Amino acid sequence: MLPVLLTARLPASVMRRFDGVCDVDAFAGPDEMPYDELLRRVAGKAALVSLIMDRVDDAVLAAGTGLRVVANVGVGYNNIDVTAARARGVIVTNTPDVLTDATADLTWALVLTVTRRVAEGDRLVRRGGWQRWALDFMLGTELRGKQLGIVGFGRIGQAVADRARAFGMRIAFTSRTPRPEEHGERMRLDELLATSDVVSLHAPLTKDTERMIGQPQFARMKRSAYFINTSRGALVDEASLVWALKEGLIAGAGLDVFEREPSVHPGLLELENVVLTPHVGSATVETRTAMADLAVRNVLAVLSGEPALTPVP
Ligand code: DGY
Repeated sequence: MLPVLLTARLPASVMRRFDGVCDVDAFAGPDEMPYDELLRRVAGKAALVSLIMDRVDDAVLAAGTGLRVVANVGVGYNNIDVTAARARGVIVTNTPDVLTDATADLTWALVLTVTRRVAEGDRLVRRGGWQRWALDFMLGTELRGKQLGIVGFGRIGQAVADRARAFGMRIAFTSRTPRPEEHGERMRLDELLATSDVVSLHAPLTKDTERMIGQPQFARMKRSAYFINTSRGALVDEASLVWALKEGLIAGAGLDVFEREPSVHPGLLELENVVLTPHVGSATVETRTAMADLAVRNVLAVLSGEPALTPVP
């Protein structure tokens, strides 16, 4: 039986796939697996199933004598040193597609929550602060006829755009690869930032995209615009976002991801016009099960000599 390390337990229905094929060593702690323990327990394993907060660097790959595949449970794989893996002949896989709808839905939950002040209203009601109905009370912003600027037009960006049609929004997008114009208008980033009413980030985190949104980018945005991020926190200089919100350079933000998770910049916690969720873009029973299942199917494919289903590019 081939030895496999899981840095977290997976749903029972998914674990059953290993029955009779692999000898599973699963970290059972309530928190994430400590790095030192990962280094120790990866030795001699043929496969590693990792989560997006596990650091799989060259030291882990070196310690993983016999490692053939690292299957990340997540579409993002910035936690893995893919170059080092390639150099060591280790295949890296991720879980695209299966989380597209869940993440696009959560993006829209944030758009609607921040533009219609849902979380702010909820807090007001709970603290007994609601006095009366008034014509000018808690006014939000409508979306129909406005422009949604999507930064990074991969699967999730496109799924967010699909939903925008139901809300009557125009789409602008940035993309490294050409896309058919029926999706919306392709723009340079600075033009998209200057003209969009809602800006939503859907780019992968790489050396090139790290902190791609900072002071100059926030300064370009409309004062009435909202900023949404459900991709990776490190795409944004969080201190600059706080600055932009406090200076009134943008109208609000909806954030599911943060620069140093699970820490959140204290400046964000103080602001009523910011909606914060704890990196739950893909957090539905159906999607998390499908992600775990795809990661395990990738492991089983590689260990049986088949091509990985979803190798990282
Ligand atoms: C991913 O898959 O990269 C997501 O961030 C996990 O929810």
